[in-house]
Amino acid sequence: MPGIEVQPLEDEHLAAAERLLADRHARHRKAERLLPEVSDFRAQLERDLDHEAAAGVVALSGDEVVAYVIGRVEEDAQLGDRRAIVDFAGCAAADGRGEAIRDLYAALAARWVAAGATRHLALIPASDEALADPWLRLAFGVQYVWAVRETAAMKPVEADVRIRPGTPGDLELVARLDRSLWEHQAGPPSFSGLAIPSDEEFRADWRDLWDDPELHTHFVAERAGRPLGHAVLYRRPTGDLRVPEHNIDLSHAATLPAARRTGVSLALTGHALTWAHEHGFRSITTDWRSVNLISSRHWPRLGFRPTYYRLYRALP
Ligand SMILES: CC(C)(COP(=O)(O)OP(=O)(O)OC[C@H]1O[C@@H](n2cnc3c(N)ncnc32)[C@H](O)[C@@H]1OP(=O)(O)O)[C@@H](O)C(=O)NCCC(=O)NCCS
Repeated sequence: MPGIEVQPLEDEHLAAAERLLADRHARHRKAERLLPEVSDFRAQLERDLDHEAAAGVVALSGDEVVAYVIGRVEEDAQLGDRRAIVDFAGCAAADGRGEAIRDLYAALAARWVAAGATRHLALIPASDEALADPWLRLAFGVQYVWAVRETAAMKPVEADVRIRPGTPGDLELVARLDRSLWEHQAGPPSFSGLAIPSDEEFRADWRDLWDDPELHTHFVAERAGRPLGHAVLYRRPTGDLRVPEHNIDLSHAATLPAARRTGVSLALTGHALTWAHEHGFRSITTDWRSVNLISSRHWPRLGFRPTYYRLYRALP
């Protein structure tokens, strides 16, 4: 791009990158008050740079850093290949300088492709249209959404369900519910492309859910004594640009297919919001695939507001 020079991100550029990121996060927090308060943006940059295969580039206009992108290549165990990711602190641009992001991507992507990573991901603040714009014009699209809402004391939902704490005796149910999510996402329009694990693998994945009540809180919904759905709450670690203090994460939710659209999730989520409110959690985060039609409509209707989009591009 005329007037812009692309250079590797070096220590001498970090202070300027820090300021660009701080400005970006301040704009983001104006749009969404439940984002974390962050004072150390250097630590956020270092977090994204602190990987073996991480590298950054900056766009210089004269001596001024007007944009940066940091990315890394990582193995994707599920798909058995490599992907490149620009993480939560991985890009920012000065006002009116978003176009430079495209040159920065070109410089980094050449290395990613040479390293065998042909699937590229960029995590972008959902409200930052100016920052999303260059990525969209690089053929990226929304693949995944992170979101947040306040906890609240909710009115119980009339759905003829009883909510109770989950126990290790629910392992079979939890395995079936997780399978139902995988099966749902294997179909159109998600086409996850993932091989669905065996029942034993699902059970092995979930066996420790009840081991540490300080980490997970599990609720099961029953109708006429039959368990139909669940919600898993997780004390997700804080310290990044996404998860605020006093937050709990709705990390898994599903209803057995035959019981869907009868209010099971409304009742479970209402219960979880009330429980979290009563236990001193201010906010609740969750996430979904934007191509999961039912959940991408369900969670926003329950008050969850997008905070970050994962933009995705697969080559060619
Ligand atoms: C997403 C999911 C958990 C929702 O669970 P659910 O129990 O079907 O949800 P509910 O019945 O409470 O609500 C579903 C819809 O039915 C509506 N509804 C609730 N009771 C109803 C009733 N008695 N009659 C008609 N509609 C009803 C709700 O308004 C809601 O509409 P919305 O999704 O557009 O907001 C469920 O579809 C599911 O398990 N999906 C597969 C797994 C998955 O995607 N999990 C989430 C991963 S992020």
